[in-house]
Amino acid sequence: MSEDHIIVAQEGAVLEIRFNRPDKKNAVTNAMYGAMADAVASAQSDDSVRVVLFTSSGDYFSAGNDIKDFAAQSMGAFDGPRHVGRFLEEVIKAEKPIVAAVQGHAVGVGTTMLFQCDLVYVADHARLTMPFIDLGVVPENASSITVVERVGYTRAFALFGLGEPLSGKQAVEWGLANASLPAAEVEARARAAAQTLASKPPQSLRFTKKLMRDTQKLMARMQEEGEIFAERLRSPEAAAAFAAFLQKR
Ligand code: COA
Repeated sequence: MSEDHIIVAQEGAVLEIRFNRPDKKNAVTNAMYGAMADAVASAQSDDSVRVVLFTSSGDYFSAGNDIKDFAAQSMGAFDGPRHVGRFLEEVIKAEKPIVAAVQGHAVGVGTTMLFQCDLVYVADHARLTMPFIDLGVVPENASSITVVERVGYTRAFALFGLGEPLSGKQAVEWGLANASLPAAEVEARARAAAQTLASKPPQSLRFTKKLMRDTQKLMARMQEEGEIFAERLRSPEAAAAFAAFLQKR
């Protein structure tokens, strides 16, 4: 990974994790997952950090998992440790609040991670999609629970099954986001909310988040999804979808 594909910086008690691969729409490589997993994990044990903020550069929040990485995994040509599971796990079990500033579109994990965040601010024009079925895989990040619980089965099935996009405004109406705003205002609003959270009694905040989330259930589903996902990655359906993207069909 170029060092700057993920930028981690601390402002006061807020740890900011920035997707910074705008030329690839902030698609997430294995190395980027590793850097983000490390940052979220270290935030949990660092008393100087009270809140984590995800943000991004460019016109996308994130175009999801890097498809070249998917294709390599699909062909069994991927060496070394894979960090995606560790990233998803760190976000699900994080005890400190996570805020997201979604100034642009989001695909795949770029959308499902928002369902694990505690406050979400999104651009009015943003399109949030989860095209797992089109890619021959299945939902991840416990989204087969979080999306259904948040928006209801009927809407959730259209998002997964038809790959329908969720707009910024719908994300608010359907309970995923706290506010939708002009893109240029999203980051400032999210940062202000993160700083406000960081000024609250940290232990009370931590216990409240813990009481509000069934982490065990989410972790178990994330692992169940992960097993099916790994199997699907090696399927002909997935191989065909990755090849089509890489050949720009
Ligand atoms: N993985 C790898 N590269 C990606 C990517 C991804 N998920 N998403 C975008 N990119 C790359 C493109 O290959 C292109 O690279 P290039 O300039 O070297 O050709 C660059 O980012 C710009 O993308 P492009 O497709 O030209 O922009 P667009 O505005 O026409 O479309 C998307 C943007 C995100 C709609 C489209 O790129 C896309 O569908 N990406 C795949 C999204 C996806 O399925 N993610 C996985 C979800 S599980």
